[in-house]
Amino acid sequence: MDTAAIDFEQKLALSSVSVEARLAAHLHVHAANDEIARPERLLGAMRYAVLNGGKRLRPFLVLESTRLLTDDAALLNAALDVAAALECVHCYSLVHDDLPAMDDDALRRGMPTLHVAFDEATAILAGDALLTLAFDILAAGADTLPSDRSLSLVRALSRAAGLGGMAGGQMLDLQAEREQPDEAGIIRLQAMKTGALIRFACEAGAILTGATAEHRTRLRQFGETIGLAFQLADDLLDVTADASDLGKATGKDQDRGKATLVSMHGAQWAARQLDGLVAEAQSLLTPFTGRALTLNETARFVANRKR
Ligand code: IPE
Ligand code: IPE
Ligand code: MG
Ligand code: MG
Ligand code: MG
Repeated sequence: MDTAAIDFEQKLALSSVSVEARLAAHLHVHAANDEIARPERLLGAMRYAVLNGGKRLRPFLVLESTRLLTDDAALLNAALDVAAALECVHCYSLVHDDLPAMDDDALRRGMPTLHVAFDEATAILAGDALLTLAFDILAAGADTLPSDRSLSLVRALSRAAGLGGMAGGQMLDLQAEREQPDEAGIIRLQAMKTGALIRFACEAGAILTGATAEHRTRLRQFGETIGLAFQLADDLLDVTADASDLGKATGKDQDRGKATLVSMHGAQWAARQLDGLVAEAQSLLTPFTGRALTLNETARFVANRKR
Protein backbone atom coordinates (compact mmCIF):
# COMPACT_ATOMS: atom_id res chain seq x y z
CA MET A 1 0.00 0.00 0.00
CA ASP A 2 1.37 3.49 -0.80
CA THR A 3 1.94 6.15 1.89
CA ALA A 4 -1.01 8.26 0.81
CA ALA A 5 -3.29 5.26 1.29
CA ILE A 6 -1.88 4.64 4.77
CA ASP A 7 -2.38 8.30 5.74
CA PHE A 8 -5.93 8.12 4.51
CA GLU A 9 -6.62 4.95 6.52
CA GLN A 10 -5.32 6.78 9.60
CA LYS A 11 -7.66 9.72 8.99
CA LEU A 12 -10.59 7.33 8.59
CA ALA A 13 -9.64 5.41 11.74
CA LEU A 14 -9.27 8.61 13.76
CA SER A 15 -12.63 9.93 12.64
CA SER A 16 -14.32 6.61 13.39
CA VAL A 17 -13.27 6.92 17.05
CA SER A 18 -15.30 10.15 17.43
CA VAL A 19 -18.18 8.68 15.44
CA GLU A 20 -18.24 5.55 17.59
CA ALA A 21 -18.23 7.67 20.79
CA ARG A 22 -21.14 9.78 19.55
CA LEU A 23 -23.08 6.65 18.55
CA ALA A 24 -22.43 5.11 21.97
CA ALA A 25 -23.70 8.31 23.61
CA HIS A 26 -26.98 8.03 21.69
CA LEU A 27 -27.31 4.33 22.57
CA HIS A 28 -27.02 4.87 26.33
CA VAL A 29 -29.00 2.81 28.84
CA HIS A 30 -31.02 5.63 30.36
CA ALA A 31 -34.38 6.48 28.82
CA ALA A 32 -34.37 9.88 27.09
CA ASN A 33 -37.07 12.51 27.75
CA ASP A 34 -40.50 11.17 26.77
CA GLU A 35 -39.21 7.63 26.37
CA ILE A 36 -40.77 5.20 28.86
CA ALA A 37 -37.97 2.64 29.14
CA ARG A 38 -35.15 1.19 27.03
CA PRO A 39 -35.58 -2.61 27.01
CA GLU A 40 -32.21 -4.18 27.70
CA ARG A 41 -32.46 -6.81 24.97
CA LEU A 42 -33.41 -4.35 22.24
CA LEU A 43 -30.75 -1.86 23.29
CA GLY A 44 -28.21 -4.70 23.42
CA ALA A 45 -29.15 -5.70 19.87
CA MET A 46 -28.89 -2.10 18.61
CA ARG A 47 -25.49 -1.69 20.22
CA TYR A 48 -24.39 -5.02 18.71
CA ALA A 49 -25.49 -3.82 15.25
CA VAL A 50 -23.82 -0.42 15.52
CA LEU A 51 -20.80 -0.45 17.86
CA ASN A 52 -18.88 -3.09 15.99
CA GLY A 53 -16.16 -1.66 13.84
CA GLY A 54 -17.72 -0.77 10.50
CA LYS A 55 -15.59 1.41 8.23
CA ARG A 56 -17.74 4.45 9.10
CA LEU A 57 -17.31 5.73 5.57
CA ARG A 58 -20.66 7.52 5.41
CA PRO A 59 -20.06 9.39 8.69
CA PHE A 60 -16.58 10.30 7.42
CA LEU A 61 -18.13 11.79 4.28
CA VAL A 62 -20.56 13.86 6.37
CA LEU A 63 -17.68 15.22 8.44
CA GLU A 64 -15.40 15.86 5.48
CA SER A 65 -18.08 17.48 3.32
CA THR A 66 -18.68 19.83 6.26
CA ARG A 67 -14.96 20.47 6.77
CA LEU A 68 -14.70 21.29 3.07
CA LEU A 69 -16.89 24.33 3.69
CA THR A 70 -16.21 25.46 7.26
CA ASP A 71 -13.85 25.35 10.24
CA ASP A 72 -16.60 26.36 12.67
CA ALA A 73 -16.41 24.04 15.71
CA ALA A 74 -20.15 24.23 16.48
CA LEU A 75 -21.03 23.19 12.93
CA LEU A 76 -18.48 20.37 13.01
CA ASN A 77 -20.02 19.18 16.26
CA ALA A 78 -23.49 19.28 14.68
CA ALA A 79 -22.03 17.32 11.75
CA LEU A 80 -20.97 14.56 14.14
CA ASP A 81 -24.63 14.05 15.08
CA VAL A 82 -25.69 14.00 11.44
CA ALA A 83 -22.92 11.46 10.86
CA ALA A 84 -24.19 9.32 13.74
CA ALA A 85 -27.78 9.56 12.48
CA LEU A 86 -26.74 8.42 9.01
CA GLU A 87 -24.72 5.52 10.42
CA CYS A 88 -27.85 4.40 12.36
CA VAL A 89 -29.77 4.26 9.08
CA HIS A 90 -26.90 2.41 7.39
CA CYS A 91 -26.61 -0.15 10.22
CA TYR A 92 -30.37 -0.72 10.18
CA SER A 93 -30.16 -1.32 6.42
CA LEU A 94 -27.43 -3.93 6.97
CA VAL A 95 -29.39 -5.72 9.72
CA HIS A 96 -32.46 -6.01 7.50
CA ASP A 97 -30.37 -6.79 4.38
CA ASP A 98 -28.89 -9.82 6.19
CA LEU A 99 -32.24 -11.26 7.34
CA PRO A 100 -33.22 -14.71 6.03
CA ALA A 101 -36.04 -13.13 3.99
CA MET A 102 -33.50 -10.90 2.23
CA ASP A 103 -29.87 -11.94 1.67
CA ASP A 104 -29.84 -14.58 4.42
CA ASP A 105 -26.30 -13.83 5.58
CA ALA A 106 -24.64 -15.16 8.73
CA LEU A 107 -21.50 -12.97 8.83
CA ARG A 108 -21.27 -9.17 9.07
CA ARG A 109 -18.29 -7.05 10.08
CA GLY A 110 -16.51 -10.29 10.99
CA MET A 111 -19.19 -11.34 13.49
CA PRO A 112 -22.41 -13.36 13.42
CA THR A 113 -25.22 -11.24 11.95
CA LEU A 114 -27.72 -9.81 14.40
CA HIS A 115 -30.50 -12.32 13.72
CA VAL A 116 -27.98 -15.14 14.30
CA ALA A 117 -26.57 -13.64 17.52
CA PHE A 118 -30.04 -12.68 18.81
CA ASP A 119 -33.10 -13.77 16.81
CA GLU A 120 -35.06 -12.58 13.78
CA ALA A 121 -37.76 -10.67 15.61
CA THR A 122 -35.16 -8.79 17.65
CA ALA A 123 -33.23 -7.98 14.46
CA ILE A 124 -36.36 -6.56 12.82
CA LEU A 125 -37.12 -4.44 15.89
CA ALA A 126 -33.51 -3.27 16.24
CA GLY A 127 -33.68 -2.07 12.61
CA ASP A 128 -36.98 -0.28 13.27
CA ALA A 129 -35.61 1.43 16.36
CA LEU A 130 -32.33 2.44 14.67
CA LEU A 131 -34.17 4.07 11.79
CA THR A 132 -36.34 5.99 14.24
CA LEU A 133 -33.37 6.97 16.39
CA ALA A 134 -31.70 8.50 13.33
CA PHE A 135 -34.53 11.01 12.91
CA ASP A 136 -34.63 11.64 16.67
CA ILE A 137 -30.95 12.64 16.47
CA LEU A 138 -31.49 14.83 13.40
CA ALA A 139 -34.49 16.59 14.92
CA ALA A 140 -32.51 17.33 18.09
CA GLY A 141 -30.01 19.14 15.87
CA ALA A 142 -32.53 22.00 15.68
CA ASP A 143 -31.37 22.97 19.19
CA THR A 144 -28.03 24.07 17.76
CA LEU A 145 -28.51 24.51 14.00
CA PRO A 146 -30.81 27.02 12.27
CA SER A 147 -34.10 25.10 12.17
CA ASP A 148 -34.47 25.37 8.36
CA ARG A 149 -31.16 23.49 8.00
CA SER A 150 -32.31 20.77 10.42
CA LEU A 151 -35.57 20.40 8.55
CA SER A 152 -33.71 20.22 5.27
CA LEU A 153 -31.48 17.43 6.68
CA VAL A 154 -34.56 15.51 7.83
CA ARG A 155 -36.13 15.84 4.41
CA ALA A 156 -32.95 14.86 2.56
CA LEU A 157 -32.33 11.78 4.73
CA SER A 158 -35.98 10.70 4.42
CA ARG A 159 -35.78 10.88 0.65
CA ALA A 160 -32.45 9.04 0.62
CA ALA A 161 -33.52 6.24 2.96
CA GLY A 162 -37.11 5.54 1.95
CA LEU A 163 -39.33 4.47 -0.91
CA GLY A 164 -37.47 6.38 -3.62
CA GLY A 165 -34.05 5.74 -2.10
CA MET A 166 -32.42 2.91 -0.15
CA ALA A 167 -35.55 0.89 0.73
CA GLY A 168 -36.88 1.22 -2.81
CA GLY A 169 -33.50 0.18 -4.18
CA GLN A 170 -33.47 -2.89 -1.93
CA MET A 171 -36.86 -3.86 -3.42
CA LEU A 172 -35.52 -3.54 -6.97
CA ASP A 173 -32.36 -5.42 -5.94
CA LEU A 174 -34.38 -8.40 -4.70
CA GLN A 175 -36.44 -8.37 -7.91
CA ALA A 176 -33.17 -8.37 -9.87
CA GLU A 177 -32.56 -11.93 -8.64
CA ARG A 178 -35.53 -13.06 -10.73
CA GLU A 179 -36.02 -10.53 -13.54
CA GLN A 180 -32.59 -9.66 -14.94
CA PRO A 181 -32.58 -5.86 -15.39
CA ASP A 182 -30.63 -4.19 -18.20
CA GLU A 183 -27.56 -2.05 -17.51
CA ALA A 184 -29.58 1.13 -16.97
CA GLY A 185 -31.82 -0.78 -14.56
CA ILE A 186 -28.84 -2.01 -12.53
CA ILE A 187 -27.33 1.47 -12.37
CA ARG A 188 -30.63 2.91 -11.18
CA LEU A 189 -31.21 0.29 -8.50
CA GLN A 190 -27.67 0.73 -7.22
CA ALA A 191 -28.03 4.51 -7.18
CA MET A 192 -31.01 3.90 -4.92
CA LYS A 193 -29.93 1.06 -2.64
CA THR A 194 -26.39 2.32 -2.00
CA GLY A 195 -25.91 5.63 -3.80
CA ALA A 196 -28.69 7.54 -2.08
CA LEU A 197 -27.21 7.32 1.44
CA ILE A 198 -23.74 8.16 0.15
CA ARG A 199 -25.14 11.10 -1.81
CA PHE A 200 -26.84 12.29 1.39
CA ALA A 201 -23.54 11.97 3.28
CA CYS A 202 -21.83 14.31 0.82
CA GLU A 203 -24.70 16.76 0.48
CA ALA A 204 -25.08 16.96 4.26
CA GLY A 205 -22.03 19.23 4.61
CA ALA A 206 -23.59 21.72 2.19
CA ILE A 207 -26.93 21.65 4.03
CA LEU A 208 -25.33 21.99 7.46
CA THR A 209 -23.26 24.98 6.44
CA GLY A 210 -25.93 26.70 4.36
CA ALA A 211 -23.70 26.49 1.28
CA THR A 212 -24.50 28.01 -2.13
CA ALA A 213 -26.68 26.02 -4.53
CA GLU A 214 -23.64 25.51 -6.77
CA HIS A 215 -21.56 24.00 -3.97
CA ARG A 216 -24.47 21.82 -2.89
CA THR A 217 -24.94 20.51 -6.42
CA ARG A 218 -21.24 19.71 -6.77
CA LEU A 219 -21.21 17.77 -3.48
CA ARG A 220 -24.40 15.96 -4.43
CA GLN A 221 -22.94 14.91 -7.80
CA PHE A 222 -19.69 13.90 -6.10
CA GLY A 223 -21.79 11.69 -3.77
CA GLU A 224 -23.70 10.15 -6.67
CA THR A 225 -20.49 9.35 -8.50
CA ILE A 226 -18.66 7.76 -5.57
CA GLY A 227 -21.91 6.01 -4.59
CA LEU A 228 -21.91 4.23 -7.92
CA ALA A 229 -18.22 3.42 -7.47
CA PHE A 230 -18.88 2.15 -3.96
CA GLN A 231 -21.40 -0.49 -5.06
CA LEU A 232 -19.31 -1.42 -8.10
CA ALA A 233 -16.39 -2.04 -5.72
CA ASP A 234 -18.69 -4.02 -3.40
CA ASP A 235 -19.80 -6.22 -6.29
CA LEU A 236 -16.19 -6.63 -7.43
CA LEU A 237 -15.07 -7.58 -3.91
CA ASP A 238 -17.91 -10.10 -3.77
CA VAL A 239 -16.13 -11.86 -6.66
CA THR A 240 -12.45 -11.22 -5.88
CA ALA A 241 -12.04 -10.85 -2.10
CA ASP A 242 -11.72 -13.21 0.79
CA ALA A 243 -14.50 -13.45 3.38
CA SER A 244 -11.98 -13.14 6.22
CA ASP A 245 -10.64 -9.81 4.86
CA LEU A 246 -14.10 -8.53 4.06
CA GLY A 247 -15.83 -9.65 7.27
CA LYS A 248 -18.80 -10.90 5.27
CA ALA A 249 -19.47 -13.85 2.96
CA THR A 250 -18.33 -13.59 -0.66
CA GLY A 251 -19.64 -15.14 -3.88
CA LYS A 252 -23.15 -14.26 -2.71
CA ASP A 253 -24.26 -12.39 -5.81
CA GLN A 254 -23.46 -15.29 -8.13
CA ASP A 255 -25.07 -17.81 -5.75
CA ARG A 256 -28.26 -15.81 -5.80
CA GLY A 257 -28.11 -15.17 -9.55
CA LYS A 258 -28.05 -11.44 -8.89
CA ALA A 259 -27.45 -9.17 -11.88
CA THR A 260 -24.60 -6.73 -11.18
CA LEU A 261 -22.38 -4.68 -13.48
CA VAL A 262 -19.57 -7.10 -12.63
CA SER A 263 -21.62 -10.15 -13.65
CA MET A 264 -22.56 -8.32 -16.85
CA HIS A 265 -19.16 -6.91 -17.92
CA GLY A 266 -16.51 -8.76 -15.89
CA ALA A 267 -13.93 -7.78 -13.29
CA GLN A 268 -11.46 -6.07 -15.65
CA TRP A 269 -14.12 -3.77 -17.04
CA ALA A 270 -15.18 -2.95 -13.48
CA ALA A 271 -11.64 -1.99 -12.46
CA ARG A 272 -11.34 0.38 -15.46
CA GLN A 273 -14.77 1.81 -14.79
CA LEU A 274 -13.79 2.51 -11.18
CA ASP A 275 -10.79 4.56 -12.32
CA GLY A 276 -13.06 6.63 -14.56
CA LEU A 277 -15.54 7.24 -11.74
CA VAL A 278 -12.78 8.40 -9.38
CA ALA A 279 -11.50 10.89 -11.97
CA GLU A 280 -15.04 12.14 -12.60
CA ALA A 281 -15.72 12.56 -8.86
CA GLN A 282 -12.44 14.39 -8.28
CA SER A 283 -13.02 16.78 -11.18
CA LEU A 284 -16.29 17.89 -9.56
CA LEU A 285 -14.29 19.21 -6.60
CA THR A 286 -11.74 21.23 -8.61
CA PRO A 287 -13.17 24.61 -7.49
CA PHE A 288 -12.44 23.71 -3.85
CA THR A 289 -8.72 23.34 -4.63
CA GLY A 290 -6.60 22.05 -1.70
CA ARG A 291 -9.54 21.91 0.73
CA ALA A 292 -10.85 18.94 -1.27
CA LEU A 293 -7.75 16.82 -0.67
CA THR A 294 -9.37 14.44 1.82
CA LEU A 295 -12.57 14.02 -0.19
CA ASN A 296 -10.45 13.31 -3.26
CA GLU A 297 -8.58 10.66 -1.28
CA THR A 298 -11.92 9.25 -0.17
CA ALA A 299 -13.02 8.82 -3.78
CA ARG A 300 -9.84 6.83 -4.45
CA PHE A 301 -10.37 4.75 -1.29
CA VAL A 302 -13.95 3.91 -2.26
CA ALA A 303 -12.75 2.47 -5.56
CA ASN A 304 -9.58 0.73 -4.34
CA ARG A 305 -10.78 -0.53 -0.97
CA LYS A 306 -10.08 -4.09 0.05
CA ARG A 307 -12.73 -4.23 2.79
C1 IPE B 1 -21.89 -2.45 2.95
O1 IPE B 1 -21.50 -1.15 3.28
C2 IPE B 1 -23.23 -2.42 2.30
C3 IPE B 1 -23.27 -1.80 0.99
C4 IPE B 1 -23.97 -0.73 0.73
C5 IPE B 1 -22.58 -2.41 -0.13
P1 IPE B 1 -20.06 -0.89 3.92
O2 IPE B 1 -19.02 -1.59 3.10
O3 IPE B 1 -19.89 0.58 4.11
O4 IPE B 1 -20.16 -1.63 5.31
P2 IPE B 1 -19.50 -1.29 6.72
O5 IPE B 1 -20.32 -0.20 7.31
O6 IPE B 1 -18.08 -0.87 6.52
O7 IPE B 1 -19.62 -2.58 7.47
C1 IPE C 1 -26.64 -3.87 0.44
O1 IPE C 1 -26.13 -4.37 -0.74
C2 IPE C 1 -27.16 -2.52 0.33
C3 IPE C 1 -27.84 -2.15 1.58
C4 IPE C 1 -27.66 -2.67 2.75
C5 IPE C 1 -28.82 -1.09 1.49
P1 IPE C 1 -25.48 -5.82 -0.58
O2 IPE C 1 -26.51 -6.81 -0.18
O3 IPE C 1 -24.64 -6.11 -1.77
O4 IPE C 1 -24.51 -5.54 0.67
P2 IPE C 1 -23.62 -6.65 1.39
O5 IPE C 1 -22.73 -7.23 0.34
O6 IPE C 1 -24.55 -7.64 2.01
O7 IPE C 1 -22.85 -5.83 2.41
MG1 MG D 1 -28.57 -7.08 -0.45
MG1 MG E 1 -26.34 -8.28 1.40
MG1 MG F 1 -22.66 -7.01 -1.69
